[in-house]
Amino acid sequence: MATVKQEELLKKKEALRLGGGEKAIERQHALGKQTARERLEKLFDAGSFVETGLFVRHRCTNFGMEKKEAAGDGVVTGHGTINGRLVYAAAQDFTVIGGSLGYEHAMKIAAAQEAALKVGAPMICINDSGGARIQEGVDALAGYGRIFYNNTMASGVIPQISVIMGPCAGGAVYSPALTDFIFMVQGTGEMFITGPAVIKTVTGEEVSADALGGALTHNAVSGCAHYACASEDECIEEIKRLLSFLPSNNMEKAPAYPCTDDLNREDEALNSVVPESPNKAYDMFDIIRSLADNGEYMEHQALFAKNIITCFIRLNGKTVGVIASQPKAMAGCLDINASDKAARFIRTCDAFNIPLLTLEDVPGFLPGTSQEHGGIIRHGAKILFAYSEASVPKVTVITRKAYGGAYIGMCSKHLGADLVYAWPDAEIAVMGAQGAANIIFSKEIKNAEDPAAKRKEKIDEYQEAMMNPYVAASRGYVDDVILPSETRKYLIEAFESLDGKRAEKPRKKHGNIPL
Ligand code: HXC
Repeated sequence: MATVKQEELLKKKEALRLGGGEKAIERQHALGKQTARERLEKLFDAGSFVETGLFVRHRCTNFGMEKKEAAGDGVVTGHGTINGRLVYAAAQDFTVIGGSLGYEHAMKIAAAQEAALKVGAPMICINDSGGARIQEGVDALAGYGRIFYNNTMASGVIPQISVIMGPCAGGAVYSPALTDFIFMVQGTGEMFITGPAVIKTVTGEEVSADALGGALTHNAVSGCAHYACASEDECIEEIKRLLSFLPSNNMEKAPAYPCTDDLNREDEALNSVVPESPNKAYDMFDIIRSLADNGEYMEHQALFAKNIITCFIRLNGKTVGVIASQPKAMAGCLDINASDKAARFIRTCDAFNIPLLTLEDVPGFLPGTSQEHGGIIRHGAKILFAYSEASVPKVTVITRKAYGGAYIGMCSKHLGADLVYAWPDAEIAVMGAQGAANIIFSKEIKNAEDPAAKRKEKIDEYQEAMMNPYVAASRGYVDDVILPSETRKYLIEAFESLDGKRAEKPRKKHGNIPL
C-alpha cells in the first residue's frame, strides 16, 4: 500500500502529465494536433520512453508569471528506444503557455541534446510552439542560443531530426535549420522568420501562414524542409523509417539488415530503359527501383529540385545514399537548387558513414542569367567540394550523358570516385555533339556548298569519335563498361569491396565550403 507521500507523488505526476489541462488538450485536438505525450508514445517503442524534468518549473516573475503554473515548463524531454535503438527527444507541449520557450524549457531541451551527444544517440525535437516566451525576455533568447549552440556542436556527430507539428516562428526556426532532417506536417506545421501579420505591416503583402511557411512551401519552394507528411501519424512512421537507414552516431555504420533480394539479380528491362534518342527523357526511378534491394527507396527532398534525386536505398541490406540525375525534369541539368540539394545530401551521408552511389545522366549546368546572377558558380562548387571531401566509398554509374563540368562534378574519378562504371550508351565529353561541331567546325560548315549537310557530317563525325564511354575507359577514368542489366551485381560487389575503406585527409581545422 502506498504511503501518503507516495500517493502525493503519484497525484502530482498525474496532474503534471496533463500538461495545460483537459480543456487545452481538447483545443489541441480540435486544431488537428496530438499532444506532446501522445506523439512521443507513438514515436517510441511501447513503454520505453523515460521522461526527465517533469517537475521543472519556470522562475519568471514578470507580468504575473509567478502565479502561472506551467507543467514541465511546456516541454516533455527524455529518452527511449525506437525499433530497439536508443533515441533522445524533446516535444514542445502547446497546451502549456502555447509551448512557448522560456529559460527552463530551453535548458530541458539542451540537457536532452547534451545527453544524446554524450552517448552517441540520435536527437529528435518536435516543435509546436509560440516561440520565445515573451514574458521572459532575454532569458528566453539565451535559452534559444544554447539550443542553437548545441545543435551546431552535435552536427556531424549524431543525427538530429526536427519535426514541425505546429507553429515554429521567428528565430526559433534556426534550431531546425541547424539539424540534419526536417519533417513537416501538412496543414499544421509552419515555419517563418516573420509571420503574415508582420509582413502585412512592413511590406503590405498579404499571405496566409500556410502559403508563407507551410509544409509544401518549405518542401517544394524554399527547400528548407526535407519531408512533407499528410498527417502526424504518417510523419512518425516516416521518422522511424529514416532512422532505420542511419547509424546512431558518426563512429558507427548504419545498421545492416538481412537481404532477402537476389544479390546477382539481373534486370533485362534496364538494357532498354535509356531511349535511343539522346534528346528523349526517361525516369531514373525505374533504374533506382531495379538496383535497390526489393526495389525499395526512401526519397529525400522529394518535392524540391526534382532534376536531381536524393534517396536512401539498401544494397545487400546496407544503407547507400543515392544521388541521381533525373532526365525527366529539366533534362537532368544541374541548377542552383539541385546543387544545394545534392551537396547537402552528400555531406549528410559522408558525416554518417553512408556510402554514395551516383547515377549520372547530366547534360551540364543550366544556362541563363537567372542562374548566373543567382550564383550558380558558388552553388555548383558545393557539389564539387562535397564529393571531393567525402571519404566514404563512392561509386558512380554513367547511364548516358556526362558532359563538361557536370561530368567532373557528378563524382568522377577525378573527384575521388573509387569505382566508375559506364553503360554502353554513355556519352562522356566536353559537350553534346551538335554544340561541339558548331564550334570547332564553324568555318568548314559556313564555307561548305551545302552547310546543312556539312553540319550533319561533322556532328556524326564528332559523335562517332567522342560520344562514347570507351575514350574515358581507355584513360582509366571509367573502370569498366557494363551491361545495364548487370548493374546491381556490380554495385553490390563494388560496395562490399569498399566496405573497409580508409581515406586520410590533410589535417586542418575545417574546410571552407562555398556557402
Ligand atoms: C508567451 C505565448 C506565446 C509566446 C503563445 N502564447 N505564444 N505566451 N509567449 N511567444 C500563449 C498565449 O498567450 C495563450 O495563452 C497560449 O499560449 C495559446 O496561444 P493562442 O494565441 O491562444 O493560440 P493560437 O490562437 O493557436 O495561436 C498560436 C500562435 C500565437 C500563432 C503561436 O499564440 C502567436 O502568434 N504567438 C506569438 C508568436 C510570436 O510572435 N512569438 C515570438 C516569435 S519571436 P493563454 O494563457 O491565453 O492560454 C521569437 C524570437 C526567438 O520567437 C528568437 C530566437 C533567436
